Amino acid sequence: MAIQTVGIIGAGTMGNGIAQACAVAGVKVVMVDIAQAAVDKGLATVAGSLERLIKKDKLTAEQKDAALALIRGSTNYEDLKAAELVIEAATENHELKLKILKQVDAMLAPEVIIASNTSSISITQLAAATSRADRFIGMHFFNPVPMMALVEIIRGYLTSDATHDAVKALAVTLGKSPITVKNAPGFVVNRILVPMINEAFFVLAEGIATAEDIDAGMKLGCNQPIGPLALADMIGLDVCLAVMEVYLEQFGDSKYRPCPLLKEMVAAGQLGRKTGRGVYCY
Ligand SMILES: NC(=O)c1ccc[n+]([C@@H]2O[C@H](COP(=O)([O-])OP(=O)(O)OC[C@H]3O[C@@H](n4cnc5c(N)ncnc54)[C@H](O)[C@@H]3O)[C@@H](O)[C@H]2O)c1
Repeated sequence: MAIQTVGIIGAGTMGNGIAQACAVAGVKVVMVDIAQAAVDKGLATVAGSLERLIKKDKLTAEQKDAALALIRGSTNYEDLKAAELVIEAATENHELKLKILKQVDAMLAPEVIIASNTSSISITQLAAATSRADRFIGMHFFNPVPMMALVEIIRGYLTSDATHDAVKALAVTLGKSPITVKNAPGFVVNRILVPMINEAFFVLAEGIATAEDIDAGMKLGCNQPIGPLALADMIGLDVCLAVMEVYLEQFGDSKYRPCPLLKEMVAAGQLGRKTGRGVYCY
């Protein structure tokens, strides 16, 4: 089944990014949020982002207009009925997501696929809140969506092959390079990335090298575009700590023990760029 119209729940950072990626690829979009102001902000973000692509000669004014014409903003969930696939990209809150998914599951035709862009909630658990666990899947896009090539496609315990194949084909249509992942905490990328960042804090705490040298080492020795400590400052030290705590609890394996220095810095309110100070000063 080719997906021609995508419904998106949430017009925030990820929702409007997914809308842009779809529209530029010629896929129709219905983007729903709770308030008209949020919908308008999402649509304005897409327009601004497309404008920047024109300035960089990556898009023509006609292509921008054509893409914008494919996106319909709405505050009415009923408008999602036009879609063959609905991607939930609302705020990361377990209760909220369960409520949204139950509501759309009851409303959408049985053949419609529902996907969630959650970063941390079990796809199998979210699927179980619906009556269509075989037509439920994770689509984990990366931020900023129009720029990042990866989509992790997460199969829940009951996700069917047909659902997986349809969603994977859509990701390719969007110009993305999907990877297929079994449902597990952190999926693939964050499962590897966040413990690496945590390890960088251990190396720093043990006085093995300075922060600058740790980051230079990983950039120059592993071709990483940004060092792990500078990346922690971008993500937020509190977010990194929360992820490690989830891994420690869910895997029950002490290898996911958060570094005491990371905990101490979070306790002190040094959360990274957003507070002006993390490992580095901004
Ligand atoms: N930001 C990232 O880097 C990133 C990366 C990958 C995945 N994610 C995941 O994507 C999802 C969205 O994150 P975000 O960064 O876009 O958040 P965001 O805060 O930018 O946007 C969330 C949007 O959801 C809307 N919303 C809340 N309740 C709603 C409801 N009942 N119905 C419709 N819309 C509702 C909010 O009004 C808001 O506009 C989360 O699950 C997050 O974990 C985020």
